[in-house]
Amino acid sequence: MFENLKKLEQEIEEKLSGIKDSISLSSLKIEIFGKKGSITNHLKSISSLPKDQRKQTGQAINDLKNKINTIIEKKFNDLNKDEIENKLLNESVDSTLSSRPDEEGKINPITQTIAEVTKIFQKMGFKIALGPDIEDDYHNFTALNIPPEHPARQLHDTFYLKKNKNGQKNLLRTHTSPVQIRTLENTKPPLKIIAPGRAYRADSDITHTPMFHQIEGLCIDKDVNMSHLKGCILDFCHEYFDIEDLPVRFRPSFFPFTEPSAEVDIGCYKNKKEIKIGTGGDWLEIMGCGMVNLNVLKNCKVDTKKFQGFAFGMGVERMAMLKYGISDLRSFFESDLKWLKNFGFSVFDNIEKV
Ligand code: PHE
Repeated sequence: MFENLKKLEQEIEEKLSGIKDSISLSSLKIEIFGKKGSITNHLKSISSLPKDQRKQTGQAINDLKNKINTIIEKKFNDLNKDEIENKLLNESVDSTLSSRPDEEGKINPITQTIAEVTKIFQKMGFKIALGPDIEDDYHNFTALNIPPEHPARQLHDTFYLKKNKNGQKNLLRTHTSPVQIRTLENTKPPLKIIAPGRAYRADSDITHTPMFHQIEGLCIDKDVNMSHLKGCILDFCHEYFDIEDLPVRFRPSFFPFTEPSAEVDIGCYKNKKEIKIGTGGDWLEIMGCGMVNLNVLKNCKVDTKKFQGFAFGMGVERMAMLKYGISDLRSFFESDLKWLKNFGFSVFDNIEKV
């Protein structure tokens, strides 16, 4: 038995000395200590020995096992060191490779359009004003001269919330026009404001989403009349759409908070596939406007003998769709990265060229 062990030790040592890499060393380790390994087999055979030989033989096999294990561990360490050193010598970093590009974030066309529109009006002297999305019945309807029987007030058209502390109905504002009231309550005329924001209506189909964006304008001064309104809107349309001979028309209409009221249409060319803005014989409605109704001014305690003014309101999604050829309203709110990469704007698009 002991002779066998001596022979095994010699064999193992011979094999070990011939090994030059850690992968072969791992295989040899399995050959020795694995389930059917040479030393394992010896350990298994102890139980078949006569009782008086077991202890001594067991001791001898364990000694051999420890000895070989120590040699293998040392060899592993040495080989690993060599292998790392070799790698460092032979591999190099290519510092001329270009870095991986960072993913650039994009600005949603809604944000872009709000920025473009407000900027044009800011250049005309309008100041930005904001109001709350959650409004009360008074600011959204009553103060704007919207009568109780008006369809916009119906339960199925508006999102009503719990009553507020004053027992008034709260709601999600159905347009940005309440910002007119809030501004008139807090600011003495003359004033010129442009108010972008969200609006909500209980509507959902291809051309309506329950939440959308509007931009409201209000100008109150001493001698303001309809021709100022027309001039202001004409200038805006030409600058926003960047088409010098763009046809713009004012079509008589009705809003409770303006008198007279008009809807603004711009010229376009429509066929089955597309709508092109410009001369073409067709018309597209882009906003509502009018001279502020005297009742609204009185509700806000404005001296109507001294002051009057005009107001207008436009839908942001529509303005973006028309200018940037976006055909489906719902796509604005689907958070589809592919769509945003295509229609979104880079931060750098907004830097003015000198
Ligand atoms: N508030 C109106 C709407 O939502 C738009 C509008 C604003 C019309 C100001 C006239 C004056 O349709």
